[in-house]
Amino acid sequence: MNGTHQGLLSQFDPSVPLEKAHCLPNTWYTSPEIARLERDRVFTQTWQAAGRRELVAKPGQFLTTDIADEPILVVRGEDGVLRAFVNVCRHRAARVCSEECGTVTKLRCHYHGWTYDLAGNLRGVPEFDGVEEFRREDNGLPPVSVAEWGPYVWVHLEKPREPLEQFLAPLPTWSDSRSALSGLVWHTRKHYDLACNWKVYVDNYLDGGYHVNTIHPGLAGVLDYREYRTTPDRNTVLQSSPMKPAEGETGRTRTGDLAAYWWVFPNVMVNLYSGVLDTNIVLPLAVDRCRVIFDLYFAADADPEFVRESLLVTDQVQTEDVGVCEEVQRNLNSRSYTTGRYSVKRENGEHYFHTMLAKALQHPV
Ligand code: FES
Ligand SMILES: [Fe+2]
Repeated sequence: MNGTHQGLLSQFDPSVPLEKAHCLPNTWYTSPEIARLERDRVFTQTWQAAGRRELVAKPGQFLTTDIADEPILVVRGEDGVLRAFVNVCRHRAARVCSEECGTVTKLRCHYHGWTYDLAGNLRGVPEFDGVEEFRREDNGLPPVSVAEWGPYVWVHLEKPREPLEQFLAPLPTWSDSRSALSGLVWHTRKHYDLACNWKVYVDNYLDGGYHVNTIHPGLAGVLDYREYRTTPDRNTVLQSSPMKPAEGETGRTRTGDLAAYWWVFPNVMVNLYSGVLDTNIVLPLAVDRCRVIFDLYFAADADPEFVRESLLVTDQVQTEDVGVCEEVQRNLNSRSYTTGRYSVKRENGEHYFHTMLAKALQHPV
C-alpha cells in the first residue's frame, strides 16, 4: 500500500460504533484512487451479478458483460455446463463475442476469425502454419468462476472465498421459505445512468427509509414507516416494512403484507412486493458516474394495466432518487463538507455497508 492510499484509507475507521461514527469522507466519493482500489479489492473479490439467468438456460446460449473493467462471457456448453471466461481473444485481445447475448455453436473472434469451442478451448487458428512453440492447448480462454442463483448468473473474477449461496446467505433461505421468486416472469430491463459515485446510490438505498417521506411521497403512502426495519446480516442488509392500503397508482401496484428490500454487498438490490420484483445492479462507470440496471418481473398472469402502472411507479421512484443522488454528488465537492453523521435509528444499514467496504479496502485479501 503506498502513501496516497494509506492517507485516503485512514480517513474512515470501521471500528468506531454507529453512535460515534462519522460517515465516509467526501474524498471516497471523488478520488479516482479510491475508485481503482474498489475495483481491485471489492468488485474483483465478490460474486457479481453478470446477467439474467434465463438468457443462458439452453446449450449454446451466451451473454456478455463487463465487470471491474473486464469483458466477461458466460456460455452454456453443449454438455449443459455453464462456464464463464474472460472475453478477450488470445491473439490480439479483441472481444471474442461482441453481441450482448445469443446462441452459438462455437465462439468465433470477429477480428481474425480464431475459433474456440464452448468450453473455451482454442480450435481454429487460420493461417498460422509455421509458427513455432505455439500450442493451442495453452491458448484457451481464461476461465472465471460462475454460479446461478435467483434471477441472475453470477461470476467471481478472483478465486471465491465462499460458494455463491453462502455469499448470499441468508437471502436464498429467506426467499425459498416464502417462495418469494416463484411464479414471477421477467418483463423489462431498463438502465439509468447517474452522475454520481456508485456509493451515493447505495447509501440512498440503505438509509433505512429516512428519505421516503421527503423524496417519495407516493411510496410513503403505502409503507408503514414506523415499522420499517433494517437488518444487517453477513453480506446483506434486509430492509422491510409492513404495507398499508393507499389510493392511486402506487397503492394499486404496491400491495401485499410486506415490502422487502434486500441489498447484497456491494452492488445488488432485490426488491419484492406482492407480484412485483425488481432487481438492481449498480455498476461504477467512473468515480462520479454509475449505471443502475433494473430488471422488472411480474406474476405470469398479471393484468397488463397493473404492469403498465407498476412500471410508471418504478420509474417515478427512480427519477426521484436520481435527482437527489446527483445533487449529493455535486455537493460532495463543496469546500464546506467533508463528512457527516448517521441517524442511529435509521442509518445502521448504511453504516454497515461503509464498514464492510472499508474493511475490504483496508485489508485486501
Ligand atoms: S484478435 Fe481474435 S483472432 Fe485476432
Ligand atoms: Fe429512494
